[in-house]
Amino acid sequence: MIDEPVRFRGCFKERLFRNDHPVYVEIGCGKGSFINALAHLHPENNYIGIEKMSSVLLRAVQKAEAQEEAPSNLLFMRFDAERITELFAEGEVSGIYLNFSDPWPKDRHHKRRLTSREFLKRYEAVLAPGGCVEFKTDNTALFDFSLEEAEASGWEIILMTRDLHHSPYKEGNIMTEYEDRFVTLGNRIMKLVMKPGEDR
Ligand SMILES: C[S@@+](CC[C@H](N)C(=O)[O-])C[C@H]1O[C@@H](n2cnc3c(N)ncnc32)[C@H](O)[C@@H]1O
Repeated sequence: MIDEPVRFRGCFKERLFRNDHPVYVEIGCGKGSFINALAHLHPENNYIGIEKMSSVLLRAVQKAEAQEEAPSNLLFMRFDAERITELFAEGEVSGIYLNFSDPWPKDRHHKRRLTSREFLKRYEAVLAPGGCVEFKTDNTALFDFSLEEAEASGWEIILMTRDLHHSPYKEGNIMTEYEDRFVTLGNRIMKLVMKPGEDR
């Protein structure tokens, strides 16, 4: 877990991971099982889990450290993604994962949704060319909102399914803690992969 992570802006690879591998970020990583599994599967990449709640992040760090072989390509940071452009330099991030982000159902809170146009603009500033945002949710209103925001922001939809677990994209899907819970309840899981438009 990294304290004051903004001091590494622009040099995460060199100073923290000590390699030149691409950096992938999960925003709102919760207890971290998704990004931990990804880090094990892809030692050729670097991974950063960002979480704003310290109590939740502590669980993620404890779980990662309790493993027999904790991945050396995984770091956790307590940070509010609203300030993501202070954390990463332009093009420093190769991909962003948003899993079961808080839906913020009240209209007046729409700017807090992690797929709002305000957040898409921030992601665009830190994503490397070709970098995507991968988003999963069981919340139809949030999913519809995300599609509208992507369109309004000129983003390109790469993949879209409203029933991930009964689609060809299920293969290779890594479950998150919330996904596990929602699937058990019988909820449909939706997935969207999108990237900033070409004329950025
Ligand atoms: C509903 S939980 C999902 C956790 C996990 N991704 C999963 O799928 O199991 C959403 C998490 O996102 C975190 N979160 C929400 N807004 C955030 C923000 N702006 N920056 C960082 N983390 C955030 C919350 O604290 C919470 O732990």
